[in-house]
Amino acid sequence: MEKGLTGTMEHQQAIDSGFENKVVAVCSATGGMGRTTIAVNLAALAAKNKKKVTILDGDLQFGDAAMALDMKGENTIQHIVEKHDLANSQNYCLKHESGVQLLAAPTRPEYADLITPDSLVRILKETASRAQLLLVDVQAGLTEHNIQLLEQVDRILVVTTPGMAALKNTKLMIETLDALGWKDKASVIVNKSTGPTLMDVHDITELLQVEEAFYLPDEDKHVPLAFDRGIPVVISHPKLPFSKELAKINEHLFPPALSETTEHITLSRRLIKKFKGLRGKDDEFISKTAIKTSRGS
Ligand SMILES: Nc1ncnc2c1ncn2[C@@H]1O[C@H](COP(=O)(O)OP(=O)(O)O)[C@@H](O)[C@H]1O
Ligand SMILES: [Mg+2]
Repeated sequence: MEKGLTGTMEHQQAIDSGFENKVVAVCSATGGMGRTTIAVNLAALAAKNKKKVTILDGDLQFGDAAMALDMKGENTIQHIVEKHDLANSQNYCLKHESGVQLLAAPTRPEYADLITPDSLVRILKETASRAQLLLVDVQAGLTEHNIQLLEQVDRILVVTTPGMAALKNTKLMIETLDALGWKDKASVIVNKSTGPTLMDVHDITELLQVEEAFYLPDEDKHVPLAFDRGIPVVISHPKLPFSKELAKINEHLFPPALSETTEHITLSRRLIKKFKGLRGKDDEFISKTAIKTSRGS
């Protein structure tokens, strides 16, 4: 399991240092590692926390974020480009009942050719300016489109699985990110980490030459079924180990903004003051209870 990442002190330090992951790419060296699953479920968790979250499906040929969210609509990224309406990308978002918004990939692989790396980056910037969190489901590999996208983002989530071929390719990808000067903004997620492998999963950080990694378990029933049904598994099965581990990753990567924390403290202090005024001698008991409630919530 991930080491000490969700500890209160580190969480607070992240908030204090203004650490912010606003535009986040979910990528992998090859396909089938879980990028879309992770992007869609992180988005659902963010929406549950009342964040204005958008997914940009950058898997231009075979993007399936719309399918994973059971969303259909007229508009895709292709339409933005065809109508030369890059400045109004937001108007082409599909809206999911959870609150998640989606800029869907073109419906056919041949339409991907219409979208140049430059226009994709402009769409990314435009969408980012209107979201609190933008998750980019990036196509597999290090294509020209991907390189231009990755340059723009605050954080790169590199998804791998624990098989030898996946790890070999992930290692090459991380070395390339390092050569491009982006290793500091990369975090590794070992998905399906409890699945069959010859590796001791805890040696993966050493193999990949990274300081830490997040781990998500293999859930060969509920995760694929939720994907096929188009319901994020964190919504349909929030108690599943996969959902709980992803919630921890979400909390670490996207801590509440300092302003939200301050607001929360101010509100609880106000309530304590109000209770004190009302109940006089029960002061101490009430303040203790109120503090406990505010921390526990
Ligand atoms: N932790 C997991 N356990 C079991 N199956 C998973 C897990 N994560 C993803 N999957 C399944 O693996 C397949 C590939 O995942 P997907 O998110 O489409 O990968 P990618 O977007 O990288 O191609 C899907 O059927 C998905 O349901
Ligand atoms: Mg995908």
